[in-house]
Amino acid sequence: TGMFTYDPGFVATASCRSAITYIDGDKGILRYRGYPIEQLAKEASFLEVAYLLMYGDLPSAEEMTKFDNTIRHHTMIKETLKSFFDGFQYDAHPMGIMVGVVGSLSAFYHDSLDINNPRHREISAHRLIAKMPTIAAASYKHNVGEAFIYPQNDLDYCENFLHMMFSNPCEEYTPDPVAVKAINTLFILHADHEQNASTSTVRLSGSSQANPFACIAAGIASLWGPSHGGANEAVLDMLNEIGDVSQIDKYIAKAKDKDDPFRLMGFGHRVYKNFDPRATLIREVCHEVLANMKGNDDNPLFELALRLEQVALEDEYFVERKLYPNVDFYSGIIYQALGIPTSMFTVMFAVARTVGWVAHWMEMMDDPEFRIGRPRQLYTGAPMRDYVPVDKR
Ligand code: CMC
Repeated sequence: TGMFTYDPGFVATASCRSAITYIDGDKGILRYRGYPIEQLAKEASFLEVAYLLMYGDLPSAEEMTKFDNTIRHHTMIKETLKSFFDGFQYDAHPMGIMVGVVGSLSAFYHDSLDINNPRHREISAHRLIAKMPTIAAASYKHNVGEAFIYPQNDLDYCENFLHMMFSNPCEEYTPDPVAVKAINTLFILHADHEQNASTSTVRLSGSSQANPFACIAAGIASLWGPSHGGANEAVLDMLNEIGDVSQIDKYIAKAKDKDDPFRLMGFGHRVYKNFDPRATLIREVCHEVLANMKGNDDNPLFELALRLEQVALEDEYFVERKLYPNVDFYSGIIYQALGIPTSMFTVMFAVARTVGWVAHWMEMMDDPEFRIGRPRQLYTGAPMRDYVPVDKR
């Protein structure tokens, strides 16, 4: 294969050294900075995890208060940025809005261009974490034709997000504690996952010394695809299409048929070949949300998903290929129960993953081995040939 190692999809290439997230795909282990995901998901707050991912250790009480206040301080977006939203078609996909609006932040914060100054890098990271929920909720409000809701900084991160999503100028929405807890857990579970496609995109973009807002916009674009973060939306579309347990066998057959492009969405993972520990935790949250939120105790989609999982896990095709439910198999059902529309699911993922993206970007910018990412290729085109004028071709 010539001078270079050929590794399509980078299944055997480590692109960097990183001290942030540890995964053992065969054993189903996921740790952030050494802490098991199960402990963080059950006990930590999302901002605590954000601090951990960014700075390497859990914060002391004092550090936490300072970090929390800093993030609250940056939740607003400029009024001129707000007017950006009006340029989008009313039915624009919110992920399309996110790519554009987040990318535009560098035009508002010129210090973000000064990427060689660590303090400016840190401020950009804080701004991104703080403003993502505001921008995400604004993209939703644009879709539903409602007024933009300002952040309310006495609320915590997850409450504030729900407030901006569901309050309107005539009526204040009081978030259900079950919903706040579920969002907190989901955000923690989605916060980082080492060198996945979108994080690698952020790193590769940043390796040219591009500004952090542009890099995160590139990450959002990569996340949107249905093989990656777009899977949570695709799972719900799939469950709706299947519609009923009686149709499961038909769709399992379609998923196994190599001539049919249909794949079981929310199933399979590049790294987890045993189970995805996030899926186990999310299934539990799903039970909790459906049992405790009014009107959701009898959720046919959840029943369908549980049955679909069971059928697939007993099927030789899925067993042989080690295909298990991944993080996105149940997340959409939870979001739907919380009243979040399908088109916003991947946006929710983007809000949470922003923490991982900025942590990786900051780690890379501090790395003494840091250099521009520049993969090579195996050329498969025509050999040298001479130009022939058009009238002679
Ligand atoms: N349904 C049916 N067959 C599948 C599926 C699926 N969901 N996933 C993998 N396979 C088959 C695939 O056809 C291949 O079969 P064969 O060996 O006969 O050719 C084998 O399993 C290995 O798959 P692969 O495509 O080589 O695996 P990959 O590591 O390149 O892809 C994946 C991983 C996640 C893109 C893939 O499993 C998939 O498309 N899953 C559905 C989309 C999804 O749920 N994505 C979310 C990933 S987790 C959230 C995130 O971090 O973004």
